[in-house]
Amino acid sequence: MNQPVSYSFVTKVNVSKIKKIGVYTSGGDAPGMNAALRSIVRTAAYHGVEVVGIQHGYNGMIKGDFVPMGPRSVSNIIQRGGTILKTARSMEFMTREGRAKAAANLGQQGIDGLVAIGGNGTFQGATLLYDEHMIPTIGVPGTIDNDLYGTDFTIGYDTAINTAVEAIDKIRDTADAHDRVFYVEVMGRDSGFIALDVGIAGGAEYIAIPEIEENFEAIREKLTAGGRQRSSIVVIAEGCFKGGAVDLARRMSEFVHLHYRVTVLGHIQRGGSPSARDRVLAAKLGAQAVKSLLAGDGNVMAGEVNSKVVLTPMRDTWEKKKGIDNTLVDLSQVLSI
Ligand code: F6P
Repeated sequence: MNQPVSYSFVTKVNVSKIKKIGVYTSGGDAPGMNAALRSIVRTAAYHGVEVVGIQHGYNGMIKGDFVPMGPRSVSNIIQRGGTILKTARSMEFMTREGRAKAAANLGQQGIDGLVAIGGNGTFQGATLLYDEHMIPTIGVPGTIDNDLYGTDFTIGYDTAINTAVEAIDKIRDTADAHDRVFYVEVMGRDSGFIALDVGIAGGAEYIAIPEIEENFEAIREKLTAGGRQRSSIVVIAEGCFKGGAVDLARRMSEFVHLHYRVTVLGHIQRGGSPSARDRVLAAKLGAQAVKSLLAGDGNVMAGEVNSKVVLTPMRDTWEKKKGIDNTLVDLSQVLSI
């Protein structure tokens, strides 16, 4: 269950056991992670709490890669993509021994609580750290995939979809000039959030997402309906077809007799300056994470649902599945008539 939060950002927490916090970014970077970090460090300073930056995600926690942070160490980063703390996908943290090393390092630093900025892998790690070592951690959702339960939007998603739509607008020009079919693969490992929004905004003829099973047949029907002989754009979520867009396009060419090209947008979707929306979300959720730690919370993620900041149990964020908006799936069919 989501727990709505009611306290204000300016009210100071008078008494808290939390005197020093650690902050890290982990997993795939997302535009707005730096803005979240800035908010966390400055909110902590506002409340008189010390901050330690943990570099390279869980790998840095295990190796003791710590750096003291203050309001000035996060100057001039609000507009920057990537993460100044660096990030990693840590295999060692997936082991009990790795987590024990990390917990010992945190203890040695005198860290009373953590703020984790990342996606579902990051929050699985935080859940285990809490279960095994009782280290209070608040999650801040930072991933372009938007696939976390407990928040309508994740930090980085808005920037990523705008980057992808800009690319598709350009692809449309050349697709139209040559009357070609373009298969455009977008990110979103196991979910269709990016593909669905990008497909609608980019005016795609078909949007293939993992949440829909009969994609192949439906694409074939769409691209051959009435002997169609004009350009089309098919947006495909990665992970939707084994072999990706390249293999799909090759198989489809047996039925669709127009020239085709494949574009895999890939990591350009992860980079770039965060949008204003992502920066504001990062500011709110970063500040909330610190306030929640000071108020005695732990093992929850700060998210935003229906424009309200809410806390969701950390385990739910990656164990429960956030559903895609089926009305958008229907709408894409209507609009691509
Ligand atoms: O989780 C974010 C994400 O960008 C996914 O959309 C994508 O599948 C994955 O990360 C790519 O990861 P990597 O950068 O490790 O190749």
